[in-house]
Amino acid sequence: MTSLLTLPSTFSRLNLVPKSLIIIPFAFKSLNLLKSHKQQRARSLNSPRLSSLNSLTTHFSTSRSSVSPKPFHDDLVVLGIETSCDDTAAAVVRGNGEILSQVVSSQADLLARYGGVAPKMAEEAHSQVIDQVVQEALDKAGLTGRDLSAVAVTIGPGLSLCLRVGVQKARRVAGSFNLPIISVHHMEAHALVARLIEKELQFPFMALLISGGHNLLVLAHDLGQYTQLGTTIDDAIGEAFDKTAKWLGLDMRKSGGPAVEQLAREGDAESVRFSTPMKQHKDCNFSYAGLKTQVRLAIASRNIDAKVPISCASRQDRSSRADIAASFQRVAVLHLEERCERAIKWALKIEPSIKHLVVSGGVASNQYVRARLDQIVKKYSLQLVCPPPKLCTDNGVMIAWTGIENFRVGRYDPPPPANDPEDFMYDLRPRWPLGEEYAAGRSEARSLRRARVHPSLTSLVQASLQQQ
Ligand code: KG4
Ligand code: ZN
Repeated sequence: MTSLLTLPSTFSRLNLVPKSLIIIPFAFKSLNLLKSHKQQRARSLNSPRLSSLNSLTTHFSTSRSSVSPKPFHDDLVVLGIETSCDDTAAAVVRGNGEILSQVVSSQADLLARYGGVAPKMAEEAHSQVIDQVVQEALDKAGLTGRDLSAVAVTIGPGLSLCLRVGVQKARRVAGSFNLPIISVHHMEAHALVARLIEKELQFPFMALLISGGHNLLVLAHDLGQYTQLGTTIDDAIGEAFDKTAKWLGLDMRKSGGPAVEQLAREGDAESVRFSTPMKQHKDCNFSYAGLKTQVRLAIASRNIDAKVPISCASRQDRSSRADIAASFQRVAVLHLEERCERAIKWALKIEPSIKHLVVSGGVASNQYVRARLDQIVKKYSLQLVCPPPKLCTDNGVMIAWTGIENFRVGRYDPPPPANDPEDFMYDLRPRWPLGEEYAAGRSEARSLRRARVHPSLTSLVQASLQQQ
């Protein structure tokens, strides 16, 4: 057994680090560490000089031969790796939120060719560039693996073939440099990256996470603790943007969303009367499959030929496509507005102290989305927090930052071996809810997808807390 023990920070602070140390599995270890988080929190409340619970924690670095004092959190340096869908991304972030580097290799060409993500091809594309992307992230930061404090990696939700590439790489880097490893929930990362850019953003807050595969409305009570207020019962809004772009013959090389947003600026948003989804359901869930069908039918009825690229379309054809783009965008976003407004009312009942709505995920880079949601939050005296577009779409910074947030409270695993055995079973969670559904808002409209789902991140964290 490798000689290493990750100690609860309260224990470490007393400098009682034993000479021979043992690896403890994550589930067990996190019990101790979560406890220390609670203790830190209690202490920070009692200590007026230390306003942040994080400022109390001390860590010890994990070197094989010796255990030296870990830097304070500002000096943490975490490598984040993201491969859950079609972007291969890596970044290096410091504990104080300073972004030392960020690299994204996009599979936009594949996306443009196939009009969607083909898992096997996406996996190959990740495998081809992952080493280069991680190396570039380290080089741009002017660091080597030896300078890192930990490696964070997305383990779900996402495409398992793709997740595996990132997890394998993360374990190789962590194993080679004897670094702790932090398993990250992709959607938690989309939400938490807002705390990197908006230092005022404290728990509890609300988050609307809108991307190609997800439409989530959550109430973030604390790190790792979320109530799901709404989700999609079929497609996510980003998928609807992508298909609309494809059917309108738009240039998909930067993904469909930006192309629709750009064309929509030329169109009349009132010209095509699409109906708003789920009007009769008084909950906070979403549905975009029906709107997609409405768009497809509108395109067919106007004889728009997707094989004719928009750049070659006649003036009238272009104008007709722009009207569809604008009308689609208006209704797609109106659906978000309606659900967000109801969710804000629910959230204010559960957590009256919330002050922020975070909007993140690829679709949050859309300026029309931001402007419309800003109007909604203002009605409730809340503040909208949208990360800059580069941090809204999939990126390594959000993974590194979520790694930092979890590392601070002790939620990490000890360094893996330098080489995993060939038949090693990776912990990948392709379908992994962030939180439990808000009971009072449970919908009759259910998702038809019934594939195996992992227990939510929140339920795992709560189970750990209860066992203390
Ligand atoms: O978060 P993300 O990068 O990846 C997923 O986790 O899915 O989101 C990608 C999605 C794509 O569907 C893309 O079309 C959409 O975000 N997107 C946009 C915009 N930029 C990206 N949708 C609408 N407007 C945009 N400006
Ligand atoms: Zn994403």
